Amino acid sequence: MIIAIDGTAASGKGTLGRTLAMRLGLDYLDTGQLYRAVGLAVKLAGVNLEDASDETLKTLIDQLDLCQKFGPELRSSEIGELASKVAAIAQVRTSLLERQRDFAHNPPHGKGAVLDGRDIGSVVLPDADAKFFIDAAADIRATRRHLELKARGEDIEFSEVLADIIKRDCRDKNRTIAPLIAASDAFFIDSSDKNADEVLAICLDYLDGGHEPQAATGL
Ligand code: CDP
Repeated sequence: MIIAIDGTAASGKGTLGRTLAMRLGLDYLDTGQLYRAVGLAVKLAGVNLEDASDETLKTLIDQLDLCQKFGPELRSSEIGELASKVAAIAQVRTSLLERQRDFAHNPPHGKGAVLDGRDIGSVVLPDADAKFFIDAAADIRATRRHLELKARGEDIEFSEVLADIIKRDCRDKNRTIAPLIAASDAFFIDSSDKNADEVLAICLDYLDGGHEPQAATGL
């Protein structure tokens, strides 16, 4: 059983992915964390993305232990922004593609996997058994992310979080390689007026056959 979840920044993909995996006894991979890890590595190595060669990026990623325990910096707005920049580079996506597919097809507990990201249903796992696409109004997503960052001790204004989210979505949707897009067979959920439990219930209901596929209209 392979489930693909895609969606905009701070739309609730991660929470849904984690809870869905737990309920179904599947393994979970937050693919955004991989791109964030590359963004952090780029920062720590002082690599200039403007003129970094494919070779440099490939070596950096090959040497990166993606299973290590990352600190809270990985979830910071700065690293989110860097993740979205490195995610637009073809070499970075190529280097991470097989790792994501390998996790899905050989999950640690052998039962199946839930992956969340931007291109899971469209590029990484086009044959996934079920696909979800989550979106919500930008100000609602920014409110959720602002609370999350504040709780983590980041001193940041709401307006900055909103601007970051809009900029990142725009870059993710408009990049030439593997842009953020809803697969045509994805089930669309607008989480603007739904809490995490409600979104989970809708997805479980859909997997039980209680819903017809609904084309994504949110983008
Ligand atoms: O948690 P949030 O929705 O803010 O972002 P994330 O899932 O941690 O992803 C960070 C960035 O990685 C995104 O803005 C994308 O640019 C990139 N990403 C991607 O391009 N493809 C994926 N499958 C996952 C993330």
